[in-house]
Amino acid sequence: MDHIYNIAKFLHVISFAFMSIPLFNLIIVNERALMGPSLNYDTDRYFENIIKRGAIRCYVFQLTVFASGMAILFLGPGLNAIWTNWVLTAKTLILLLLMSLLSYVHYFIQPEIESILESLLSNKPASEDLTGKLAPFRILRKKLATVCLFLVITSIILGVQTNYRFHPFVSMSLLLLAAGFSLRANKSLIRFGWF
Ligand code: HEM
Repeated sequence: MDHIYNIAKFLHVISFAFMSIPLFNLIIVNERALMGPSLNYDTDRYFENIIKRGAIRCYVFQLTVFASGMAILFLGPGLNAIWTNWVLTAKTLILLLLMSLLSYVHYFIQPEIESILESLLSNKPASEDLTGKLAPFRILRKKLATVCLFLVITSIILGVQTNYRFHPFVSMSLLLLAAGFSLRANKSLIRFGWF
């Protein structure tokens, strides 16, 4: 049983590392912005494919985090800990929130972007109007990716305190750094990793 517990823990850690998709999406969105606002079907199709398919990958990693977290509890302190350990309650709620935000982007925002982009095929070169129509959806998606990045980092800050709590000052400082980093990833290419 110890081996299964250890494998579940490994799966838990590797899956939330791979849940960093919002960070890499923000980087490619900022790379795309450097190419200017005018639409180019091939470039934008390539860019949108990465983002659209990233959503499915993210669902899989989120579900693995959830399933491995449940397995760790089942084999360890018991499922009841979801309610008795507030860190686990908070992480579970954050994970549900992340899944809801991802679903909103994937099922409501992405289809709007797709239909505007596909209309570019019959509307070359792209009219100002088409670029203007696309912008609000892309801006909203970018804002939500920033919120998701902050939530992922927050759940990691909580995750490392599942059993042993940090001083509240340390947690608050880490949360502030998480917010600063998420905003920085929204606004820049973070060319030097942290900056
Ligand atoms: C966004 C979601 C989540 C993230 C980012 C996350 C992150 C983490 C992190 C960083 C650890 C510490 C690993 C270590 O110190 O070795 C951890 C441990 C743990 N997580 Fe999660 N977690 C998430 C969701 C969940 C959920 C939904 C559950 C259960 C319902 C869960 C159950 C646990 C348990 C029981 C541990 C303790 C493992 C141990 O030390 O034996 N996690 N998590």
